[in-house]
Amino acid sequence: MKSYFIKTYGCQMNIHESEKIAGILRDLDYIEADSDQNADIIVFNTCCIRETAEAKISGHIGEVSRLKQKNPNLIVAVCGCMSQQKGVAEQLKKRFPFINIILGTSNLQLLAEELSRQTQKHSLIDTAEYNTVTEMNSYRTSGANAWVNIIYGCNNFCTYCIVPYVRGRERSRKEKDIVAEVSYLLENGYKEITLLGQNVNSYGKDLDDGSSFSQLLEKLANLPYKYRLRFLTSHPKDFTEDIIDVVAKYDNICKSIHLPVQSGSTAVLRNMNRRYTREYYLDLVSKIRAKIPNAGLSSDIMVGFPGETEEDFADTLDLVKQVRYSSCFCFIYSRRKGTPGYAMENQIPKIVKTERIKQLIAAQNVITREISKQFEGKTVEILVDGLNDKYSDVYCGRTDCGKLVNFKCDKDCTGEFVNIKINRSQSATLFGEIVKD
Ligand code: 5AD
Ligand code: SF4
Repeated sequence: MKSYFIKTYGCQMNIHESEKIAGILRDLDYIEADSDQNADIIVFNTCCIRETAEAKISGHIGEVSRLKQKNPNLIVAVCGCMSQQKGVAEQLKKRFPFINIILGTSNLQLLAEELSRQTQKHSLIDTAEYNTVTEMNSYRTSGANAWVNIIYGCNNFCTYCIVPYVRGRERSRKEKDIVAEVSYLLENGYKEITLLGQNVNSYGKDLDDGSSFSQLLEKLANLPYKYRLRFLTSHPKDFTEDIIDVVAKYDNICKSIHLPVQSGSTAVLRNMNRRYTREYYLDLVSKIRAKIPNAGLSSDIMVGFPGETEEDFADTLDLVKQVRYSSCFCFIYSRRKGTPGYAMENQIPKIVKTERIKQLIAAQNVITREISKQFEGKTVEILVDGLNDKYSDVYCGRTDCGKLVNFKCDKDCTGEFVNIKINRSQSATLFGEIVKD
């Protein structure tokens, strides 16, 4: 039996794409290897959102040359966002001549074909144009939760972001295909579905058949199973009232909303081409909180975008304190070749960016702790994900609003909904015990 090892970098979209890669390889009778040391094929599913990601991945690809020396039959494949960038496949070929297969995000489905060719000769192929939506079988490994793509690509062209260049224009899947896939997954025991897209609220705009994200949510929420529905990621400019209303209406649509603001300064948002103002965003948050009082909001925020002044950054800190996110992913702006931000004047020195991110993380940490503390003494329903990776006898799961809960249990309760009384909290995490009915 031949075996595979997949190294995944980046976002949930990539995690799910690795499940599709695993699906392709299992269809070819490969089994999963427990480490890269004894695999017959190593696949790097890459990310290029920030320079740090690319540097890390390049380091890891470089390390594989030793394995390749030991086992010349080892196949090394690189795919995903990094290799989809213009000119990068060529650079990879030059820098790492031992790579056998290079695919991008647009032609992943060619992996099987390329692999069969590997038996005769080691070829390298360049990334191609984007296909329309090609669905592949997934080998899901995410426990009770299943990821489901609803829209691919992005049309927004935020000026810092490489994604529209490596994932192409928005392509929505047909509603009936999504409903069929979700129904199949629920029929097969999944208890949580997370809808994926770079901008899920754009769903349907390219279809011309009247489909919309809120209608899709409503249709899925009405499926006759006990399960939870989540979705990632929402663009604030497209988070319309009909979406708020549907999320508020259905108990099985999770009240955790990832709504990246990126900056709290209208001037910076304009330069980022985000197409909303600070005031619009704060108003949207108020509308969400008015209709969904227990919503857990989370965000992505960047510091050090070109031209960001001390006042702009103070606006970001102030917004974070006003919104009170349950959690926040904070990033230092990274210059990406090919994006408009790359050529902008007034790039911010590293030392300033580092100072700002420290302040931002510290401000958010205080809020995260305060929000976690509010759960102490309360009983919450969670869906159990499985054993916590860090502790062998501790299970974990998430509340409806997205909080991670750790607890002990003497039997395997993965995939069950259980009630937990929260005893204590530690930064973003809650700890508790099962409440017996
Ligand atoms: N530099 C830093 N962070 C970035 N992101 C996207 N592009 C960049 C960049 N060039 C962040 C945004 C986005 C998240 C997925 O990654 O905050 O929401
Ligand atoms: Fe990038 Fe903006 Fe598209 Fe998100 S919405 S993927 S940040 S361009």
